[in-house]
Parts: sequence; C-alpha cells; structure tokens
Amino acid sequence: MKTDLLYEGKAKRVYQAKDKTGQLVLDYKNDATAFNGEKKEVFIGKGRLNNEISAYIFKALNEQGVQTHFIEKLSETEQLVHQTEIIPLEVVVRNVAAGSITRRLEIEADTPFTPPLVELFYKDDKLGDPLINDEHALFLSDVTRSELQEIKAKALEINQQLTTLFETVDLKLVDFKLEFGRLASGCIVLSDEISPDTCRLWDITTNENLDKDVFRQGTGDLLEVYQKLLNRLEART
Ligand code: TMP
Ligand code: ASP
Repeated sequence: MKTDLLYEGKAKRVYQAKDKTGQLVLDYKNDATAFNGEKKEVFIGKGRLNNEISAYIFKALNEQGVQTHFIEKLSETEQLVHQTEIIPLEVVVRNVAAGSITRRLEIEADTPFTPPLVELFYKDDKLGDPLINDEHALFLSDVTRSELQEIKAKALEINQQLTTLFETVDLKLVDFKLEFGRLASGCIVLSDEISPDTCRLWDITTNENLDKDVFRQGTGDLLEVYQKLLNRLEART
C-alpha cells in the first residue's frame, strides 16, 4: 500500500501511497514527545490508539461536510489521506484556559473564553513553534489574507462540531491544535491529526484529563487514558 518514506515527524511517518498519485499513507508511531521533543518515551500501542481516534474524528467531520485530507483507515496504525502541502501554521482554538496561555498571560486555569480564542503558531521546531500574529502568518506562509480568514473561520466551525461531539461522551473540549494543507487543486483542507496528542479533553464532571497532559505533567498512564477516550467514542455508535 505504501512506497517511499517522504517525511518522518515526531508522531507519524508519511509515505507515498502505492499506485495512487496524490495520496499518502500516514503511519502513526508509538513515540510520545513533549516540550518540543525534550521529553520522549515510547508507548507500545499509542500509534494504534491515535490512528483509531484521529480516523474516528476525521470521519465524523467529513460526514458533517468539513473538507479534510482523510480518506480511510487502512490498518491498525495507518490511514490513507489526500496529499497536501502543509501550511506551516498551528491553529489553536481555546474554549477554556489551560497550558501555555495560563503562563504567557497569567490567566487562571479553567477560565472560560466566550467567544473562543484562536491563536496562530509558526510551525518550526528549531524556533520552538512561536506564537505569531496575522501579519507574520501572511509573511511566513503562502496564504492570502482571505485564506487566512477562511482558515480561522473553519477552525471555529470545527470547534463547534468537535465540542458537540465530545459533549456526547461527557468530555469538555478545552483546546486543540489544527493544521491545514493545500491540495493540488489549490483548495485548503483540514490535514494532520486530531487526537489526544493535539487536544485537551477533560471529563465533564471530574475534570480528569484524557489527553497528553498526563504525559507532559507525569500525572497518569498515557495508554490507559487514550484507550479510555477511544472506548467512549466507540460506545457512541
Ligand atoms: P499549548 O497550551 O501548549 O499552547 O497547547 C494548546 C493545544 O495545542 C493543546 O491542546 C495541545 C496542542 N498542541 C499540539 O498539538 N502540538 C504542540 O506542539 C503544542 C505545543 C500544543
Ligand atoms: N508536540 C510537541 C512536542 O512533541 C509539544 C507538545 O505537544 O507538548 O514536543
């Protein structure tokens, strides 16, 4: 199904799909990293869990009419996607204060943001993915001003859809990171992954973290909480 390795990131390997031009195979790895790769550990089974969780979420978004790169899950750790040129922006949506914003702006954790905040980070490991503004984003990427507005509007629309989805499994979507890519046609679609690596998800009643914060902060068992999240999603249908 896959041929040449095109790129290896911290959490996935990206291959050209065999005999299918314009399609890629994403292979989810078992590595967990935090703090720009400073903390690293291998969890056997993490790749399978994130592949399943991200495939579930992208399928749900596709069904709701969001244009994404996702085509289908191929195996335990692999999925088939449309090839895109990744736009080097990390688009973070925040519904509740947690993580970097609580330190950067001294906002108390758990403070709600109404309306939600959208932040842009420049996707560059050697710079540590710095926070940037719209003018920087226009300078650093090849998106136009109207495409940037479109990306932010899409991120907020996806926030509403995901907030509703996670509410059905008693989880609060605190914040998450999205990446967008450009298809050969020029069209911009949602790319990369949506998983507990890229979201903060708190149990609606207990505020228990079902995401990578358990690894970042050393407060829980990553495999156990990712499996718990997958079980809740699978019990929906
Ligand atoms: P932050 O609070 O560390 O800025 O993270 C905001 C959200 O983005 C959180 O849900 C985790 C996610 N995220 C990533 O997916 N990749 C990253 O490299 C970082 C720093 C955060
Ligand atoms: N993804 C980043 C890393 O691998 C940071 C994070 O998610 O906390 O280091």
